[in-house]
Amino acid sequence: MHNENARNDARNAAAPAPSGDDPHDPRRLVPPALAREIAARFGTPCFVYSQPALERRADAALAFPNAFGLTARFAMKALPNAAVLRLFDRRGLHFDASSGFEARRAILAGVAPAKISLSTQELPADIAALLDAGVTVNACSLSQLERLGEAARRRAGTGTPLEIGIRVNPGRGSGGTGKTNVGGPDASFGVWHEYLGDALALAAGAGLRVTRLHTHIGSGSDPLVWQQVAVASLELARRMPEVATLNLGGGYKVARVTGEKETDLQTVGAPVRDAFVRFAAETGRRLRLEIEPGTFLVANCGVLLATVQDVTDTGVGGRRFLKLDSGMTELLRPSLYGAQHPVAVVAQWERGAGSGERGDSADFIVVGHCCESGDLVTCAAGEPETLSARALPAATRRGDLLLIGGCGAYCSAMSAKNYNSFPEAPEVLAGTDGVARLIRRRQTLEQIIANEVAPE
Ligand SMILES: Cc1ncc(COP(=O)(O)O)c(C=O)c1O
Repeated sequence: MHNENARNDARNAAAPAPSGDDPHDPRRLVPPALAREIAARFGTPCFVYSQPALERRADAALAFPNAFGLTARFAMKALPNAAVLRLFDRRGLHFDASSGFEARRAILAGVAPAKISLSTQELPADIAALLDAGVTVNACSLSQLERLGEAARRRAGTGTPLEIGIRVNPGRGSGGTGKTNVGGPDASFGVWHEYLGDALALAAGAGLRVTRLHTHIGSGSDPLVWQQVAVASLELARRMPEVATLNLGGGYKVARVTGEKETDLQTVGAPVRDAFVRFAAETGRRLRLEIEPGTFLVANCGVLLATVQDVTDTGVGGRRFLKLDSGMTELLRPSLYGAQHPVAVVAQWERGAGSGERGDSADFIVVGHCCESGDLVTCAAGEPETLSARALPAATRRGDLLLIGGCGAYCSAMSAKNYNSFPEAPEVLAGTDGVARLIRRRQTLEQIIANEVAPE
């Protein structure tokens, strides 16, 4: 694909290079010496996650304000590597799975099924087995309720009625972009709130006990809308007498670059805790709170380490490009959402004072290695096709490392995997002890083609 208009619409002003005291500088998470060591040991591109950062975020989620108990779940779709799941499991988090495969993946990582809640657009064929194992499920449509009723009938005779949750679309949503807004009339997620009566009748007819209510309205949601929906969800819970747990989903904003505002969990959660207290005073029901953040827990705990494999330009007055050995094969968010990620150069080796590493800067457009103009790392905010230059060291050359921050959530988990037959990048966990350990190997070409079969 070649989009000349998009190319010509480049921004003139370069975003400032991260300075040493910029909290978003990816070198704060992976300092230059560690970046060089990891590149030498594991190659690039490579994801690097910080164990201390992951643990700090887990602790912050577990401290979410609550009145009558909290279960904080990790929305594992954001970063489903087993090492990360185990780390969070040990820290006290439970898990939100978005497909039967994710639930199975968590179980394979050693997570107890009872700690896994499944809210899925596609109810898996093996749902009965997952339920028998102890996974809990939120029905996300009327048809899912019917199918869960069938599963419950198969369990009849066990003496234990099936307890389920219902995910309701509360009629309002909010997301960082339209693509991640999953509430309101344009969203297919959950049972539409006006059908709640039908859903409850269906559940009762099928012998299902509805003990949980779930309302997740989007990723990167406006904290005010999130709070208002939380209070509206309590109103829905009034109509659901057996509900003992209210799951308000995730979606808390994080700041990957300067200018973005992070949602403070204490601030957003305190009024909701008060609403739970009022609800208890009025109804006598002390609801447990569940939250299930993905982004909040991992986004700023991961860096993508890449190598500059070419530096080109388009002549006098044109653009200067840094081409990486990575791109949408690891980081799709800029192409998909126009997402902003901080970038910093780490010279291949220390060039010393006056070398340009910390000296003059120049405007560069950072692009990926896939054969389409859309493989753009530095696009304008919310505009995937618009080039946006970053001020980076003028001396940046082939072989230097480029660190891309904010790459913990929805990067290794959600990318244009294997496009152009580039193999999946490895993942490394930088431990609290300072040691970098491989937690996923680089894929091989043989693994990419392993499932291809010659036609009969
Ligand atoms: C049901 C559900 N819960 C939680 C999340 C996590 O959202 P976030 O990563 O924005 O916190 C999502 C994300 O799409 C989701 O669909």
